[in-house]
Amino acid sequence: MIANCSGVDMLVLDDSLLINQGKSRACYLHPADSDLVVKVPVGKKKENNQSNITELHGYQALMREQIDLLCISHCYGFVTTSLGKGLVCDCIRDDEGLISKTIWDIIIYQDDCDVDHIKEVAHDFGRFLTRRDTRLFDLNLKNIVLKLRYDGVYEPFAVDLKGRFDNKETIPVSSYFKYFARKKMVRRTRQLIERISFFRENRMQWQ
Ligand SMILES: Nc1ncnc2c1ncn2[C@@H]1O[C@H](COP(=O)(O)OP(=O)(O)O)[C@@H](O)[C@H]1O
Ligand SMILES: [Mg+2]
Repeated sequence: MIANCSGVDMLVLDDSLLINQGKSRACYLHPADSDLVVKVPVGKKKENNQSNITELHGYQALMREQIDLLCISHCYGFVTTSLGKGLVCDCIRDDEGLISKTIWDIIIYQDDCDVDHIKEVAHDFGRFLTRRDTRLFDLNLKNIVLKLRYDGVYEPFAVDLKGRFDNKETIPVSSYFKYFARKKMVRRTRQLIERISFFRENRMQWQ
């Protein structure tokens, strides 16, 4: 629903639209467009909207370098919502129309999942990004969703770009030198694949 509040259009978000929640943001289906989501800040730093601002900057920087990048959820800017300022992004959906799940949700909660296929998809995703020198270091199980295609194949999409320069380096060499960035991407991809195996094997602990 869109309400008019002091002359400004405001999106009304409620629990029926909630898709999922991360540490700093809750992700809602856009009430007027089912191809979009709206992310609003939650938690301690809710007031400053920092995650959304960082994500939008990260997205804009990425687009300056990688104009034809399809495997991310694109960002379209801010809107006013009943829960504060929200960032509008693409909603990633399976071919059948369901909202795509994160790797985490699939490997932890889904009994019948093809872990080998997911590891292969993660490996190819990391290799694709590395070869294009796309710096997306935050390859987290909860920040990648897998779009299920009609043929049963998963297509990966990065949905959280706020940590793209998440180097964890005193001197951020990976931000300036392709060589170091590639090495880091290879390591982060390997960690991602190891985590898929580890969390799948121990999934009962996390349910
Ligand atoms: N574009 C999207 N399409 C589908 N689901 C999404 C999308 N963006 C986020 N989500 C879901 O919302 C969760 C939280 O969003 P995220 O941006 O990762 O928030 P946080 O900054 O708190 O980590 C994700 O883990 C994912 O389940
Ligand atoms: Mg996240």
